[in-house]
Amino acid sequence: MLDKIKTVTVIGSGTMGNGICHVFSQSGFNVHMMDINQAALDKAIATIGKNMDRQVTKGTLTEEAKQGALGRIATYTDMAVAVKDADIVIEAATENIDLKMKIFRDLDAHCPAQAILASNTSSISITRIAAQTKRPNKVIGMHFMNPVPVMKLVEIINGYATDHEVTQTVVDLSKFLGKVPCVVNDYPGFIANRILMPMINEAIISLQEGVAGVEEIDTIMKLGMAHPMGPLQLADFIGLDTCHSILNVLYTGYGNPKYAPATLLTNMVQAGYLGAKTGEGFYKYTAGSKDLVVSERFSSKKW
Ligand code: CAA
Repeated sequence: MLDKIKTVTVIGSGTMGNGICHVFSQSGFNVHMMDINQAALDKAIATIGKNMDRQVTKGTLTEEAKQGALGRIATYTDMAVAVKDADIVIEAATENIDLKMKIFRDLDAHCPAQAILASNTSSISITRIAAQTKRPNKVIGMHFMNPVPVMKLVEIINGYATDHEVTQTVVDLSKFLGKVPCVVNDYPGFIANRILMPMINEAIISLQEGVAGVEEIDTIMKLGMAHPMGPLQLADFIGLDTCHSILNVLYTGYGNPKYAPATLLTNMVQAGYLGAKTGEGFYKYTAGSKDLVVSERFSSKKW
């Protein structure tokens, strides 16, 4: 089945979308990157170029292979044109259920009948998205991790009606990209976020209760559990708004108060302190600096 996949359309050119385009183009696929605004697409191409430069510097990619990969990416602002010869579409738009449902209705209308429709959603129900289309058997979750070029995992989510053959194609495709696929079923948060988000939430509740400070919580989890980032730094990296919305998916999906987002997290999201992307969350971020500086909102407390 893998030989039938030649052209991949990626909807959305943000962090996840450009990372997905990066790995597909590097593996030889023709990539159509679609976004509603050309400036976002131009920025994404520049980001992919910069991230490929890191690989060139390290010697894991040649300059020629980089140019070849960049040459395989075309940008589109018109969805109908971007998907008209797609063998698979990977939707990586904002995590908003109404937006995703609309995108899947449009994809179903414009894509070739045999095309697989995948979503990179981190928690929204694949079954619900699939029900917007006349091909729910061809709808599947293909959840990449950030940063996509670095992280090995692809969490593959079977919707209620996904065909076995579609799952097998997406498993083979993920392996072809050099990733490790893991297939799971469609329950809120799937596996990755069902386990990750309660850990992040518990770290925030611990901070809120004054059990320990930002640095202490992150250092304990980094050095004690061999995590590359502590949970508060990871929350900033993912985006506090994204963490908040995934926790709400778990909370409403299971109806269990253990998933309720920490009040401190809700306050930070409402105040617009969303982590690295807004310059401040639990840490403060300065463009061009790799130093990790705790936000002064938390640094004055004594632990
Ligand atoms: N593209 C290509 N290469 C990249 C890259 C990118 N976007 N970002 C980082 N790299 C490479 C760097 O070049 C570097 O390579 P070498 O080690 O070979 O030199 C390597 O990755 C490490 O990068 P840095 O030296 O810049 O920084 P680091 O050592 O702190 O690593 C990190 C950065 C890879 C992000 C690491 O901190 C990490 O693994 N963090 C945890 C990431 C994680 O948990 N991601 C999952 C988030 S959850 C999610 O995505 C799903 C969800 O639904 C919420």
